[in-house]
Amino acid sequence: MTRGKFITLEGMDGAGKSTHIPTILAALEAKGVSVVVTREPGGTSLGESLRALLLHQAMHAETETLLMFAARREHIAEVIEPALARGDYVLSDRFTDATFAYQCGGRGVQAAKVRMLEEWVQGELQPDLTLLFDVPVEVSAQRLANARDPDKFEQENSDFFTRIRQAYLLRATAAPQRFKIINANQSLDNIKKILVEIISSL
Ligand code: TYD
Repeated sequence: MTRGKFITLEGMDGAGKSTHIPTILAALEAKGVSVVVTREPGGTSLGESLRALLLHQAMHAETETLLMFAARREHIAEVIEPALARGDYVLSDRFTDATFAYQCGGRGVQAAKVRMLEEWVQGELQPDLTLLFDVPVEVSAQRLANARDPDKFEQENSDFFTRIRQAYLLRATAAPQRFKIINANQSLDNIKKILVEIISSL
């Protein structure tokens, strides 16, 4: 049995990545593969309970980091590894790059600590492809301003999001073979075309 591929979606709040999940899913299914669509924090029953705490309750930045990885451990064991092992593709709305961007870039948690957790929780597991939806902070802020009921992260200021964007772009530069940066500040149709092209050339 050929192992499936692990694809992750990343970007700041308001970059619009979730909007494009149906397009990516359809492009993958057109290749004849079965796809498990999931998200972080979340993806399991325990993970979704942790998500509710993480998105709405104030806590120490390292507590936040540890809970992200607790949810991730469960997600890998219950969903990601079994799916990849049976040959399915996994499409996850966020994964560990988000921890480096939000908890390290945004909140200042030491990257060395997150690398330790990454090694512990993931072992060799890394995404095969990461689509980074990138927009200027002013654009994402404008989109978030129109959103109802912002969560804890979405209420942060533009300095926080500037650091997150920089942290994401740095990670993409450091691993160019894994990342594809999508300019998400253009028409939905253009973005859709770019995504279909990336997926069909996988
Ligand atoms: P998000 O994926 O943007 O979902 P929605 O579109 O429903 O708002 O929300 C998840 C939030 O969690 C987002 O603000 C980023 C944050 N997050 C972290 O801070 N660290 C992480 O490791 C992960 C996976 C998410």
